Amino acid sequence: MFRTIPSGPADPLRVVIAGAGGMGRAWLATVTDSPEVTLTGIADLDVALARSAADSAGLPGLPVGADALALARQTGAQALINVTVPEAHHPVTTAALFAGLPVLGEKPVAENVSRALSLAAAAEVTGELFMISQSRRWNPQVAILRAMIARLGPIGTLSTAFFRSERFGGFREQMAYPLLVDMAIHAFDSARFLLGAEPVTAYCHSYNPPWSWYAGDANATVVFEMEGGTRYVYNGSWCSPGAITSWNGAWRASGQKGTALWDGDHDPVLDADVDAAEPTDPPHSGIAGALQVFVRALRTGEPPSGEVHENLMSLAMVEAAVRSAASGQLERLDAVLERAHAQALRDETRADVRSTLAGWASIRDVLTSTGRVETR
Ligand SMILES: NC(=O)c1ccc[n+]([C@@H]2O[C@H](COP(=O)([O-])OP(=O)(O)OC[C@H]3O[C@@H](n4cnc5c(N)ncnc54)[C@H](O)[C@@H]3O)[C@@H](O)[C@H]2O)c1
Repeated sequence: MFRTIPSGPADPLRVVIAGAGGMGRAWLATVTDSPEVTLTGIADLDVALARSAADSAGLPGLPVGADALALARQTGAQALINVTVPEAHHPVTTAALFAGLPVLGEKPVAENVSRALSLAAAAEVTGELFMISQSRRWNPQVAILRAMIARLGPIGTLSTAFFRSERFGGFREQMAYPLLVDMAIHAFDSARFLLGAEPVTAYCHSYNPPWSWYAGDANATVVFEMEGGTRYVYNGSWCSPGAITSWNGAWRASGQKGTALWDGDHDPVLDADVDAAEPTDPPHSGIAGALQVFVRALRTGEPPSGEVHENLMSLAMVEAAVRSAASGQLERLDAVLERAHAQALRDETRADVRSTLAGWASIRDVLTSTGRVETR
């Protein structure tokens, strides 16, 4: 349950954006184009960057500032879109929720599962909606693939191949696990959504080919055991020249009754002796889809896909894969969640959030009962 905010064509939701970097600019364009919201301002620690983002979006009069919360108050915003760097997700979103603003946040929830649990508890304490925009959730082709997978009977293996050759420069080329930490969460989240099942264990080999231009591991192969026994296999590289895959990866679902394939860019293909499937919901698309879902949820009170509790297991998959890569051992997702919970209790500075965290017995139950990934 979260606080609802009525809005409609005559009374669009007033939002402020925090973060004017690459993705902040994409959000700026999306918000400006949407009739369901009105932009009241854009904040960035680098105010000149916020100003130039507003100017290049054709909004020279848009209020800007360094402090997103102060800007929200000054401009009468009703919600905040958090597009800051992952390390700022926790402080900015906590402050917004406690100021009575629901938050639509970019992935990941936070820089680690422990901080993400603190945010889920903060959403409970404040009664404000905190939803993650995991943009692939609203890809219409993912919706079609999901409907196809539902026709295949039990699924043995679901796999993603992600092979690209990106030269980003900057922080990604310095991270220890750039592929797992910066990119793989999109595929992991899609796997949960496609199967309607949660992860149980992770086993990961992460490595860096000799020709890699990354300091950390540009390649990783991860095997997840999902509830019900399906194995989800992610095989990827950031430094694989030639025959690159889609940004969405190339997918194969192999089930008892047949196979579904998706190249990540075109409509999925079903090779099975079953009826062709149509998705039941009108699909939304990309971050514009996330915005629509957020506004609709605030209007109706229906928990949206991507609500913080429901999204958190995707980040736990990343953390489990990284831990397995470092330890060489199979990692249980429950152990990752329990360790993160203990850390969250140690780090929490707010008594009310700490008390909520302390009341959680099984973290898996808390995450899956409040916002279980939709089953098919
Ligand atoms: N969905 C996707 O496909 C996708 C793609 C790229 C990035 N992202 C996500 O979007 C977020 C932003 O990524 P980016 O590529 O725009 O990063 P970026 O580094 O280009 O921009 C982030 C901005 O946040 C600002 N910032 C940091 N702390 C702040 C604070 N406390 N208040 C206000 N501003 C603050 C920084 O000054 C910077 O300008 C990340 O969480 C990233 O994972 C998602």
